[in-house]
Amino acid sequence: MEFWAMVANESDSGIVLTKQRVSEDFLGPGDVTIKVHYSSANYKDALAITAGGGVVRNYPIVPGIDITGEVVSSDVDDFAEGDLVVAHGYDIGVARNGGFAEYARVPADWVVKLDGVSTKDAAAIGTAGFTAALSVQALLDRRLTPETGAILVTGATGGVGSVAIDILSGLGFEVIASTGKTDAADKLADIGANEVIGRLPEDPAAKPRPLSKTRWAGAVDSVGGASLAYILSSIGYGGTVAASGLTGGHVLPTTVMPFILRGVALIGIDSVALPIEPRRELWTRLGQDMRPRHLSDIENVAPITEAEKVLHSIKNGTHSGRTIFGVAGEF
Ligand SMILES: NC(=O)c1ccc[n+]([C@@H]2O[C@H](COP(=O)([O-])OP(=O)(O)OC[C@H]3O[C@@H](n4cnc5c(N)ncnc54)[C@H](OP(=O)(O)O)[C@@H]3O)[C@@H](O)[C@H]2O)c1
Repeated sequence: MEFWAMVANESDSGIVLTKQRVSEDFLGPGDVTIKVHYSSANYKDALAITAGGGVVRNYPIVPGIDITGEVVSSDVDDFAEGDLVVAHGYDIGVARNGGFAEYARVPADWVVKLDGVSTKDAAAIGTAGFTAALSVQALLDRRLTPETGAILVTGATGGVGSVAIDILSGLGFEVIASTGKTDAADKLADIGANEVIGRLPEDPAAKPRPLSKTRWAGAVDSVGGASLAYILSSIGYGGTVAASGLTGGHVLPTTVMPFILRGVALIGIDSVALPIEPRRELWTRLGQDMRPRHLSDIENVAPITEAEKVLHSIKNGTHSGRTIFGVAGEF
């Protein structure tokens, strides 16, 4: 068996992503072989094709942390030929070959059978949207409701941010979107933002305060850094921040004041190593009460051969929403 793959290789000029014909050895070990319908572009995929990006252990590798498609063979009873599935996280696309190839093989306990979500929508949700859903679930678990107040979403035009806005507004929350893109307000309103503001803090030169005026009941933050520190200082009493990312920096210059004087909770969100049972349960909710309703406004569709160009736009900050790549048959 031979098939097409986009393979990332190290070269003197950095990491290059090239279209290659590969053999079945490329699939590696695993119980479930998937014909890949779609993959997608995530921040982590952009790092995978960046020299020193820090996410890939060894090159060459097929990037693509998201895989959606149909099972073509399975060594376990839980999956059968023709099942529509999604697999993401764990080692996919970073320590074993991922979704930027016509076929992928993974362990069965990394695979989620899709129920009420198409392979295209599952890719549009992808790791970023699943992380958004985990973040929203963390706020709901802390008893935030539309009645407890507005939710701030940072990195609003990004993958995590845009799907979080869509899910939160579908659940009836008032959503405040924080973005650095001055022309994005209409698009963010279309997917459910009630108000659009700039990046936080509004005055980056101002001396940070341990506690500021309270502005939001909760936040979905994928930016981190000084932005997250400011958010913690301005969340209302008993509020919750679900933190998943670091596009604004990994250092968190904060104090204990929001935690000990306002009972604020900072919840860490990880989609990568999340065990398979809660992963499957949340994917079920993504087809039901947490279904994003504006994926067609959030998604861009591109052939997999354009992956390098799209991932560079993520790195240089010009990308918006979720780009999904058609894979099998698109080489
Ligand atoms: N914990 C997990 O399991 C998990 C899973 C997925 C992603 N993540 C992390 O979450 C973050 C977002 O991922 P993503 O896939 O949504 O990425 P993305 O689509 O590239 O979106 C990131 C957004 O962050 C904002 N941003 C970019 N540079 C910034 C800066 N210097 N300061 C402040 N904001 C900046 C931009 O939004 P605006 O222009 O609208 O401000 C950008 O669209 C990344 O750090 C990623 O590694 C974590």
